[in-house]
Amino acid sequence: MNHQWSKARTGPAEARAFAITPPQIVGPFYPITECPDLASDLARPSGSTAEAQGQLIYVSGRVLASSGAPVPQARIDIWQANAAGKYRHPSDTNRAPLDPNFKGFARLTTDTSGRYSFRTIKPGAYPTPEGDIRPPHIHMSVEGRFDRLVTQLYFAGEAENLTDRWLNAAPHPERLIITLQEPASRLEGCALAAHFDIILASG
Ligand SMILES: [Fe+2]
Repeated sequence: MNHQWSKARTGPAEARAFAITPPQIVGPFYPITECPDLASDLARPSGSTAEAQGQLIYVSGRVLASSGAPVPQARIDIWQANAAGKYRHPSDTNRAPLDPNFKGFARLTTDTSGRYSFRTIKPGAYPTPEGDIRPPHIHMSVEGRFDRLVTQLYFAGEAENLTDRWLNAAPHPERLIITLQEPASRLEGCALAAHFDIILASG
């Protein structure tokens, strides 16, 4: 549930303002050696028909200003672990294997309505050097014309969501949790879909 809103205190009586998406830390695994995939598809290497391992998912939504106005041409960087919980990053000491078909880094641009979508696999949970188990999550950095937000989205039903200190440090953790569902129209195979709107303070 990420698109909560409340009535604005100023402006027209019917004007509505959306609650800003809670920020999260960048974390240690922002890609430094990889080029982003610009095709909105993290689950398949560019120019290949091979598929990454894991549950295929589609994530889509809109980038909006808190006024409700869409943010066109916003840049969204996405990075995440593979299905085994491993980042393709030199700082990741997790012993889980890399997936040769999963790079885990993409860059999107919203359309004129602020819409975005991408195809990926559900990431795995992973241990941190401090002994935490991080629940499955996807990192996102969203840059509009006037504002930038770094956050993480999480998946409903994960036991580690209840104990993850980064998720639970958010003022409204529930706004960062998406629910995977059967798509309204069959996408492909066993793919699941989820919706995640991202609200910036200003466009
Ligand atoms: Fe992470």
